[in-house]
Amino acid sequence: MAELDEIMLAELGEVRDALARAEFDGDTFAVALGHARLAEIVDSRVLGQLLAPAVKAEPSKPLRLPVPYYGGKFGAAPLIERAMGPIVNLVIPFGGSLGCLLGRSEPARVETANDKDGLIVNAWRAISNDPIAVAKACAMPVHECTLDAVHGWLLDNRESLTTLLRSDPRAHDVAAAAYWLWGRSVWLGGSWCNPGKRGPRKAKVALRGGETGPGIGQGVLSSKIRDELPAYFTALAQRLRHVRMTCGEWTRVLRDSVTVSHGVTGVYLDPCYDLGTGRRPDLYGIDEPEQSAEVRAWALEHGPHPRLRIVLSGLGDEHAELEEHDWSVITWRGRERLWLSPHCRREDFGPLFEQGAA
Ligand SMILES: C[S@@+](CC[C@H](N)C(=O)[O-])C[C@H]1O[C@@H](n2cnc3c(N)ncnc32)[C@H](O)[C@@H]1O
Repeated sequence: MAELDEIMLAELGEVRDALARAEFDGDTFAVALGHARLAEIVDSRVLGQLLAPAVKAEPSKPLRLPVPYYGGKFGAAPLIERAMGPIVNLVIPFGGSLGCLLGRSEPARVETANDKDGLIVNAWRAISNDPIAVAKACAMPVHECTLDAVHGWLLDNRESLTTLLRSDPRAHDVAAAAYWLWGRSVWLGGSWCNPGKRGPRKAKVALRGGETGPGIGQGVLSSKIRDELPAYFTALAQRLRHVRMTCGEWTRVLRDSVTVSHGVTGVYLDPCYDLGTGRRPDLYGIDEPEQSAEVRAWALEHGPHPRLRIVLSGLGDEHAELEEHDWSVITWRGRERLWLSPHCRREDFGPLFEQGAA
C-alpha cells in the first residue's frame, strides 16, 4: 500500500507541476491534458485500490497473469532467479504468460519480454496501458457459444492485430485482450487459439469442477480474484510498467544491444518442447517444436559469455548434450528440467539438490 501511495503521489506531483506551468504559460490545451491525466490517475489507481482488499494486504506478493497457461513457469521463477543470481538485465524471448518474470521476487533493472503470438503480446500491452478497461471487459458470463465465437474471432484477427502492434507503439485492443484472457480461462486443456482447433469442442468448457473444484473457476474466473479484477490488473500494470515488450521471432531479442550491452544479463529460454520428448503437439497458439534444437544451439554458442546467465527449459533429456559443455541440469518438477549455463550460480545446486530444499 505504501509503495502504491508513493508512486501515486509522485505522479500527482508531476501532473501538478505540469498544470502550474501550463497555467502560467496560458496553454489551455496543456491544462486540459493535465486535467485529463489527473482524472486518469485518480480513476485507475484509487478505484483499483478501493476495490482491492486482497491485493492491498500483500502488495509485494508476485502476481501471475490470471490465466491457466500450458508450460507456464510462474512456479519455477524463484528457482530460475536463484540460478541466475544478481543480474541487471532480464530477457525472455518466449514470454507466454510471463511466468519467469512475474514470479521473481524483484524486477531486474531492465526487462524485455517477447512472444511471436500477437494475441498474447496485445494482452500484455492492453493490461499495461488500460488495466481497468481490460478488467471490465473480462467480466463475461461463461457460455459455450460465446467461447466458440470468441475463439473464431481471435483466430481471424491474430494477423491484423499483430500488424497493428508492430505499426503503432501504443496500439492495443482491449476487447481482444479480454477475449484472449477470458477464453483461455474458460477453455479446458491446451491448444487455445491454435489454428488447427477451430470449431466447437465437445464438453470442453470449464463448467465442470475438475481440478479447480466445483464452481471455483480458473484464471480471470477464479473465485479468488473475479470480484477484484480491476485491482488485480492495476497491480499487474504497475509491475509491467517498465517491461519492454516485443512481438516477433525469439532471436530478435538476443542481439547484444538487448542483452550484454546492459551488463550482466539473465536469458530465460522456454521454447516449445521437441515432439521427441513425447509431449502433445499443438499445445500453443503458435507451436513450433522444431525450435528446440535451434535454441539449444544458440545456448551452446553463448553459454561461455561472462556476462550471460542462461537458463534453458526442457523435458526429460531434451538438452542433455549441453552437459558435455560445462552446463549443469536441475529438476524443477516431474520430467521438467532446467539447464544452467556455465556462469549461473551452480554451486547452489549440488548433486543432492532437491527443489524446495532452499
Ligand atoms: C513454452 S511457452 C512459454 C511459456 C512461458 N515460459 C510462461 O511462463 O508462460 C512457449 C511460447 O513461445 C511462443 N513462441 C512460439 N514460437 C515462437 C517463436 N518463433 N518466437 C518467439 N516466441 C514463440 C509461444 O507463443 C508460447 O507462448
